[in-house]
Amino acid sequence: MCGIVGIVSNQPVSNRLVEGLTRLEYRGYDSAGIAVVNGQGIVRRRSPGKIINLQHVLDDAPIEGTCGIAHTRWATHGKPNMENAHPHQAGNVAIVHNGIIENFKILREELAREGHVFATQTDSEVIAHLIQHHLDKGMDEESAFLACFERLEGAYAVAALVGKDNQTLYAARHGSPLVVGFGTGEMFVGSDAFALAPFTKRVLYLEEGDSAVVKIDDVCVRDKSGQVVTREILTASISAVMAEKGNYRHFMEKEIHEQPEALARTMAAYMDQETDLPSLGNAAPLLKNADRLVAIACGTAYLAASVGKYWFEGLAGVHVETDIASEFRYRTPALPQNGTALFISQSGETADTLAAMRYCNRANLGTIGVLNAPESSIARETNAVMRTLAGPEIGVASTKAFTAQLAVLAMSAIGTAQLRGHMSEDEARTHVKALEQLPELAQKALTVKDQCEAIAPILAGAKQTFFIGRGVYYPLALEGALKLKEVTYLPAEGYAAGELKHGPIALIEDGTPVVVIAPSDKLLEKTISSVEEVAARGAKIIAITDEAGAEQFKDRTEHIIVLPDMPGLCGPIISAIPLQLLAYYTAHKLGTNMDQPRNLAKSVTVE
Ligand code: G6P
Repeated sequence: MCGIVGIVSNQPVSNRLVEGLTRLEYRGYDSAGIAVVNGQGIVRRRSPGKIINLQHVLDDAPIEGTCGIAHTRWATHGKPNMENAHPHQAGNVAIVHNGIIENFKILREELAREGHVFATQTDSEVIAHLIQHHLDKGMDEESAFLACFERLEGAYAVAALVGKDNQTLYAARHGSPLVVGFGTGEMFVGSDAFALAPFTKRVLYLEEGDSAVVKIDDVCVRDKSGQVVTREILTASISAVMAEKGNYRHFMEKEIHEQPEALARTMAAYMDQETDLPSLGNAAPLLKNADRLVAIACGTAYLAASVGKYWFEGLAGVHVETDIASEFRYRTPALPQNGTALFISQSGETADTLAAMRYCNRANLGTIGVLNAPESSIARETNAVMRTLAGPEIGVASTKAFTAQLAVLAMSAIGTAQLRGHMSEDEARTHVKALEQLPELAQKALTVKDQCEAIAPILAGAKQTFFIGRGVYYPLALEGALKLKEVTYLPAEGYAAGELKHGPIALIEDGTPVVVIAPSDKLLEKTISSVEEVAARGAKIIAITDEAGAEQFKDRTEHIIVLPDMPGLCGPIISAIPLQLLAYYTAHKLGTNMDQPRNLAKSVTVE
C-alpha cells in the first residue's frame, strides 16, 4: 500500500511533507522518507519504522527545498529497513511508489547490464533507474518520466523529482490511487485527499493510466494515450479535524465509542422520512431487478458481506454469493446474466476489491459500492454508491465502519425484500423501526466495557481463543477472532458452533477460552449444545448474549456479557461491540499498538 505526498511550492516543504505523511500512516509504517530538490540537487532523509523516527532524523539533520516527495512504506519487496525505504534515487531522479512492479526483475537485469547499480531489494527502485536511463539517452524530463511507464507491468502510483528542476513534480497512476491538490502558489500530490486536507480541499483525482506534470500554479494531465485531458476539480469532503483522538487514548477506542453516532448518521441516510421505509437511492433498481446478488469484499468488510447474505436470502429470498475479492478475481466465476454485485469496502481502494469490481463492470453486472470513502476509486467506478457514514476511520482494525456496513446492508435487505414483493410495507416498517433503535442500543452496549476489560486478562493469558456462533452470529464469530488476532497477535479461531466437533474441538484444553456469541434467537438451543460439548472438555465459556439468553448461560459460566434486547436485525450489529471491546482491552493489557498493529495497513492497495 504505502502513502505518497508531494509538494511544489515557493515555500520550504519539508515540514509539510511530514505532516501530510502522518495522515497516511494508516497505509503502512515500515519506513518513511522524504526527498527535496535544492541547490545541491536531490537530498534525502529516510528512516526505518514510523514517521516519528523520520522526524527525529530531520530534527538532527534538516533538509530544505521548495519541491519534494515523501513516502510511508508497507513493505512488499525487500525488508522494512533503512536501505529499502523510499524515496529511491538514481542519479538525478528520486521516486516514491505505491503498488507492485511485477516485471521488476527483468528490468533490473537489463539496467544492471547497462551499468546501473541498485542499492535496494525493492521492486520500486527500478522506476528511478528507468527514468535516469531515459535522461541518459538525451530525453527531456517529461519524456523520460512518461517513457518509463511503457515498460512497467503491475500497479503503481508514482511521484517523482526528475533532473535538477525544482519547479516540477511528476506523477502517474495505474492501479493505485493518486490525487492532485490545488493550493495558492503551490500544488500537491497525495495518495488521498485526506493527506492533503491540512493544505487544500480542492483536488483532482487522476484516472487510470493518467500522468501529471505538476507546477507551482498549474497541472497538465495526460491520459493513457498521452492526450492532454481536463479532469474535474472537486472539493474534498473530508474534514481535517475529524482525525484527532480527542479524549481517547487510541483511535480504536475512540472509533468503538463513535458507533452510536455513526449508526445514527448512516440510518438517517437510508430512511424515507415520509414513508418510514428504506430509501435505497439509485441502488434500488439494481437490487430490485437482479436475479442474483454477488457480495465481494476483503477482511472485516467480507464478514459484513457474510452477514448480509443471511439477511438478503432470509428476508428477500434472493440468492447471494459472497466472495473474498482476491479469490473472486482469479477463479473465473460463473456470473448471472442479470446480476448485481455489491462491493463492500471502508476505503474504497482495496486493490483486490477494486479489481473484482472492474471485472464485474466488464461482465455487465450492475455494481454497487457500499463505501465509507465517498471519493474513492470504487465510488467513482460503480453504478451506484451506498455510503456508510461512519466518518474517517483511522485505527487499522475496522470497528465503526463494520457496524455501519451492517446497518446499510440491513436497510438494503429490507428495502429489497419490500421492492420485490417478498415483504409487506408494514413488515418492512417494523424492521426499520427496530433498526432505528441502533444508536441507543449501541450506547447501551458500550456499558459492557468494564466487563470486557475484566475479561481481557483471560484472553491475554490464553494460548488460543475460540469464537463461535450460529447463523447470522457465525460471521460475527469470525470477526471476533479476526479482531483479536489483528490487534493482539494472539492465535484465535472463529468457527460455526455446529462445526466445532468436526475438528477444532481437538484443540480445546482445560481453560481454553471460548467466546460464544448467542443472543436469544431460534438457534440459541443449538448453540448451547455446542457450548456443552466444549465446556465438558474444560473450555472457559465467555457468553455474549441478551437478558433471555443470559438465563440459559447462567449455570454454565460466570462470564456473561449481557447486551440489551436487540429486536429485528439489530443483533449482529450490536454484538460486534463487545467483540471489539474484548480485542481492544486485551491489546491494551498486552501493550500492543492496536491502532497500527505490526505487519498490517488500513488500506491495502496492493494485491
Ligand atoms: C485491511 C484492514 C481491514 C479491512 C480490510 C478491507 O486488511 O486492516 O480492517 O477490513 O483491509 O479494507 P476495506 O477498506 O476494503 O474495507
